[in-house]
Amino acid sequence: MSLVLQDSVVFITGGGSGLGAATARRLAADGALIAVNDLDPIAAQKIADEVGGIALPFDVTDSDAFDAAVDQCVASLGRLDVMVNNAGIAPQDVSNKMDLTIANQMKRFEGRIADMDPMNYLVDLTNDAWDRMLRVHLYGAFYGCRAALRHMQPQRSGRIINISSILGQQPSAAAPHYSVAKAGMITLTKSVAAEVAHLGINVNAVCPGYIETPLLTPFSEMVKAGIVTRIAKGYMGEPNDIAEMIRFLSGPESSYCTGDVFTVSGGYNG
Ligand SMILES: NC(=O)c1ccc[n+]([C@@H]2O[C@H](COP(=O)([O-])OP(=O)(O)OC[C@H]3O[C@@H](n4cnc5c(N)ncnc54)[C@H](O)[C@@H]3O)[C@@H](O)[C@H]2O)c1
Repeated sequence: MSLVLQDSVVFITGGGSGLGAATARRLAADGALIAVNDLDPIAAQKIADEVGGIALPFDVTDSDAFDAAVDQCVASLGRLDVMVNNAGIAPQDVSNKMDLTIANQMKRFEGRIADMDPMNYLVDLTNDAWDRMLRVHLYGAFYGCRAALRHMQPQRSGRIINISSILGQQPSAAAPHYSVAKAGMITLTKSVAAEVAHLGINVNAVCPGYIETPLLTPFSEMVKAGIVTRIAKGYMGEPNDIAEMIRFLSGPESSYCTGDVFTVSGGYNG
C-alpha cells in the first residue's frame, strides 16, 4: 500500500529546528522526500539524515541562493510538489519592560490612563532589526513562492504553505516588525493563490499561536506565563500541532483550500 505523500518532493525552509524539523519528520513518515534548508548547515544536515532527505543550507534572504537551491532540489529529487516557507526569527525579548508593563496595567485598572508611561517598543526598534525581520519572513516567503512557482507552473500542480503567525492576525504592540512581516505573508499568500489557482497550485498560510520551540528560548518564564494566560487551552502548543496542519495542506484532503488562512493557536486571544 503506498503512503499518501509517496514520492512527493517537499522543500522546507528553516527545517533544522522546531516546526520545520517536526514537519520534515511528519511528511517523511507519509512517504515524502524532503529537502531541508536552514541557515545552520549542521542542523539542516542532521534533520536531512534523520528523514533520508537532502540538506540545502542557505540564508532565505539571499534570492540567488534560494533559486539555486530549489533548482538543485529538483535536479536531485526530480520535481517539487510542496514548498513550506517556514524559516523565521523571534522578535526581541521584552523582559526588561515587564516592570513598566505591570505598572501601566495597574494604572489602567485604576483608571489613570493619562499617567501611563510610554512603552517605546517602536521608538526603540532599530532600522536593522526592522529590516532583518521583514527580510527573513516576508522577503524569504516571496523568494520561496517565486522559486517554487517556476517549477510548479510547468508541471501544473503544487502546494505552497507560508508559515505566518497569530501575530499576523492579532498584531502585538511589543513586536510591530514581526507582526507586519507575518501579516504581509498572509496577504502574499492570498495574492499568489489568486494568480495560480487555475494552474492546479494551492497557496495557503498557517498561523501558529505560541508553540514550544527554540524560537521562544529568549523569552523569560514571566513573559511566557503572561502569554499562557491568553491561551484558552491554558498551555502552549507543540510542534506536531503545526506539522499536522502542514501535512493536511500538503495532501489530497485539502484540494479545495487555497488563499486560505489556518490558525492553530489553542484559542489565543491577545
Ligand atoms: N514557535 C512559535 O511559537 C511560533 C509561533 C508563530 C509562528 N512561528 C513561526 O514558525 C516558524 C518556525 O519557527 P520555530 O518556532 O520552529 O523556530 P525555531 O527557531 O525552532 O526554527 C527556526 C529555524 O529557522 C532557521 N532560520 C532563521 N533564519 C533563517 C534564514 N535567514 N534562512 C534560513 N533559515 C533560517 C533557524 O536557524 C531555525 O533552525 C517561524 O517563521 C516562526 O516565526 C512560530
